[in-house]
Amino acid sequence: MSVGEAAPSYAALCDTRKTHPLLAYALRRTGLRTGRALDIGAGAFGDTRYLLDCGFDVDAVDPDPVATELAKGVVSGRSRFTMVADEIQNHRIIPDAYSLVVALHVLPFIPVDAIDRVADDIVSGLRPGGVLCCTHFGVRDSWVISDLPINGVTERRAAQLFTGLQPIYFGVSEHDGFDVEGNPKHWHVLRQVLIKA
Ligand SMILES: C[S@@+](CC[C@H](N)C(=O)[O-])C[C@H]1O[C@@H](n2cnc3c(N)ncnc32)[C@H](O)[C@@H]1O
Repeated sequence: MSVGEAAPSYAALCDTRKTHPLLAYALRRTGLRTGRALDIGAGAFGDTRYLLDCGFDVDAVDPDPVATELAKGVVSGRSRFTMVADEIQNHRIIPDAYSLVVALHVLPFIPVDAIDRVADDIVSGLRPGGVLCCTHFGVRDSWVISDLPINGVTERRAAQLFTGLQPIYFGVSEHDGFDVEGNPKHWHVLRQVLIKA
């Protein structure tokens, strides 16, 4: 079962979503100001738009047809934007191309048998000094515990996934709340900012 069959369009539900605080923090903390960025699982393009406004060139990847439609409305004065309508595991990440890779709330949806290769490709895609900003679901997240095709990681696994990157920030939080459709959800989220030396 694919993610598309398991869940409604996130982009359709969240078209007003703003920039993720972890991304703003990552830019502040690393001092990264511009360059070429890859937004994996861009959804409703809240982070893409923020990066374009900051002056980044942005390549977005998302298989959701709603995201493809929304991409037509993403414009930027000076920056360049491209959209790939596919799953990241089917997309060739160009080696040594990116000063920033953003993978917020998307890694849990990548099939288990593809995640190590995608992680290696992300590392290869970063230039020296490049930054990765990403989140995972932890093993106690209620979507992970459910029979949905959504994968959780232990803190140890998350820390070891991106071989060759140095950790800048690692945070874990857990709380009972709601998902984007208003259903009760136990959130167990791991947050990472890493840099390529
Ligand atoms: C929970 S949303 C997060 C969207 C955005 N990153 C954010 O934080 O608002 C997950 C997004 O990842 C996309 N997605 C799911 N599986 C994917 C895959 N294998 N490769 C790329 N994107 C994927 C979905 O279509 C959806 O837009």
